[in-house]
Amino acid sequence: MKNTVKTLLEQKKQGDKITMLTCYDYSMAKLMDEAGINTLLIGDSLGQVVLGYEDTLSVTMEDMIHHTRAVARGAKNALVIADMPFMSYQTSVYDAVVNAGRLVKEGRAQMVKLEGGATVCEQIRAIVDASIPVCAHLGLTPQSVNAFGGFKVQGKSEEAAQQIIDDAKKVEEAGASLLVLECVPAGLAKIITEKLEIPTIGIGAGNGCDGQVLVYQDMLGMFTDFTPKFVRKFADLGSEMKKAFTAYSEAVKDGSFPSAEHTYKISDDILDKLY
Ligand code: KIV
Repeated sequence: MKNTVKTLLEQKKQGDKITMLTCYDYSMAKLMDEAGINTLLIGDSLGQVVLGYEDTLSVTMEDMIHHTRAVARGAKNALVIADMPFMSYQTSVYDAVVNAGRLVKEGRAQMVKLEGGATVCEQIRAIVDASIPVCAHLGLTPQSVNAFGGFKVQGKSEEAAQQIIDDAKKVEEAGASLLVLECVPAGLAKIITEKLEIPTIGIGAGNGCDGQVLVYQDMLGMFTDFTPKFVRKFADLGSEMKKAFTAYSEAVKDGSFPSAEHTYKISDDILDKLY
């Protein structure tokens, strides 16, 4: 069944948890889609896990469109959500609509995600008015890493927690269809989830949210530069991949690969005629 804004809302009503994974290419999109993951997020985390930057700030619209397009081609049923990169929407409402439009038109995204609360509500309203569904993102918003002074849990004091609740209500009011809550205390995420009509998706926000998201390289053990506390490794494919790369290297060097079964043949008669 095709996942849409409406089916996600229905999942919240039914208490059926929503699954989201980050995804950046076609073959991974197909695997996740076939596994029944509800939504695929082309996160700007691609800056770190795919492109090797230390944060998400250098990711461009071109990067996002390129990867969104690849994922969209592999996603038959999953809802495709593309991150709006740093400075693609903060600069003006006009920029926000134009760039959201590019992610839909050129990237074939079905929803766009942007970070922030009250300060981006005008942008959310305008994008939604252009018939593009929006996912908001609160808590640890990685594009604000320099303002936060690092990647830190947010919303721990009464004032900070209340600010996130107020922002959550405002982004819903502005028309957001989904809200990602990143790195906030579980109790706070649960309160927000209960207060909102729209589904919340948690990452490092406990299990009181309407759904969960993880960066796939983290949950498969493929990215080891740093591993946040909230990550569970559902498989250690990083080790398996390294073993396979080593086995390949050894087989090439000792001549056992390619063997006859991986080799195309030509008749000896023809070979004899060649000069
Ligand atoms: O960029 C990303 O991958 C994200 C998720 C961590 C929510 O925003």
